[in-house]
Amino acid sequence: MLLPLVSLLLCPALFAFLSAFRSKLLQALKLSPSFSPLRRLPLPPGSMGWPYIGETFQIYSKNPIAFFSHKQKRYGPVFKTHMLGCPCVMISSPEGAKFVLSTQAKLFKPTFPASKERMIGHQAIFFQQGPYHNLLRRLVLRAFSAEAIRHKVAGVEATAVEALRSWDGRLINAYQEMKSYAFNVALVSIFGREDIFCTEELKQSYYALERGYNSMPINLPGTLFHDAMRSRRRLERMLSEIIASRRQRGAEATDLLGSLMDNEKSLSDEQISDNIIGVIFAARDTTASVITWLLKYLAEDPKLLEAVTEEQEEIRRSKREGEDECLTWDDIRKMQLTSRVFQETLRAASILSFTFREAVEDVEYEGYRIPKGWKVMPLFRNIHHSPDFFPNPQKFDPSRFEVTPKPNTFMPFGNGVHSCPGNELAKLEVLVLFHHLTTKYRWSLTESKSGVQFSPFAIPMNGLPIRLSLKA
Ligand code: HEM
Repeated sequence: MLLPLVSLLLCPALFAFLSAFRSKLLQALKLSPSFSPLRRLPLPPGSMGWPYIGETFQIYSKNPIAFFSHKQKRYGPVFKTHMLGCPCVMISSPEGAKFVLSTQAKLFKPTFPASKERMIGHQAIFFQQGPYHNLLRRLVLRAFSAEAIRHKVAGVEATAVEALRSWDGRLINAYQEMKSYAFNVALVSIFGREDIFCTEELKQSYYALERGYNSMPINLPGTLFHDAMRSRRRLERMLSEIIASRRQRGAEATDLLGSLMDNEKSLSDEQISDNIIGVIFAARDTTASVITWLLKYLAEDPKLLEAVTEEQEEIRRSKREGEDECLTWDDIRKMQLTSRVFQETLRAASILSFTFREAVEDVEYEGYRIPKGWKVMPLFRNIHHSPDFFPNPQKFDPSRFEVTPKPNTFMPFGNGVHSCPGNELAKLEVLVLFHHLTTKYRWSLTESKSGVQFSPFAIPMNGLPIRLSLKA
């Protein structure tokens, strides 16, 4: 009884004391008396749903794309919600995305579910900020920049030709097969062509790891997480052996492994492994989803397919006898229409609908307060589907990329310090595959059912079963 009474009496006194102390403190710090802590600012509009559960069910039981569009229409480009146990602010304007990912990136740190961070490895590029992140980016870009990628055409081409041969005459699940193609391209660009002697075992361990990516981090025998962590340890042992053999040979930095091993601040085996597993994770499902959408869009538009085929035939015709399997970097540069089809696929499918960051302190944006610890999500898809930037957004129209999009309106590879360092490789593997596909093969969709599935990226329904065969 006494305690509440004392606090009641003390509170006003304490408040008066603190107010007086605050103005003295502001004077001492030479801050303006009008200095207002961000706490006074309102939170963005929006609804938070049920306690703890928030609006998770609304987001995941329907289509997340429809959920975010509906919210944007109702509340505007900055709104709050609550999902997966976290309060979140969604941002769907180009300026807002740039603010979070680029100009004020230091106020927002990358954030991932704990299970994913443990499985990929804490020292992988995605989870870093500051000097260690800068170092990793430099090393990754050294292996994947356009300058480095131009020497990878032959390796990617051999992988594409082999994949297409294996699909000939078969009914395939496009997404699953493209995952396998993207995996092979990733391995060639990580290890070069000599070190992929143990790839089958490495792949099997990676598949077992991947099964646990979205599991709860409960490390008990029998759980998905436990199995995944065991596979991770196996994978790490294999990578250590590859690193040791590379050290003995003293090979140069022409691939990602070489680049990670060859730098003044040498990375530990663990740091190298975390980043190799991370790059496989980043390279595979993303590229496979985009190729799957491209197969669908082209199959549904025979005129566009004909024009793309003609562009690729032209490149093939320009080659001398016996050279037709060997594309060069100059050939890749000539694939203008196919590149625009790739860009339009990235826009229309927007396979990464959004990304996550976390505010490291209270941040003011557009007169609203984003509290420290809240998740912040730039909504790429909403920007890519805004009629203000892409007229008639539902139409698949590669010609819109004859003109460069307005700044920050086209961000399939993100923006700022964490933007995708693999964009050139992704483009190369798509262009090379479609060169051989359109000039030598035909494919048809075998399911009339349309729609989108999340796996976790947006993919066509059931992974797009197709029938593929050599042209007569
Ligand atoms: C079409 C295929 C791809 C798409 C759409 C894509 C998209 C993205 C996006 C949007 C980000 C930024 C995420 C964020 O800011 O939170 C990102 C980051 C990243 N991507 Fe890609 N990506 C693709 C292919 C690749 C490939 C082939 C590689 C590997 C060579 C790769 C490696 C990475 C890495 C390492 C990061 C993290 C960069 C950092 O944190 O600094 N990606 N990707």
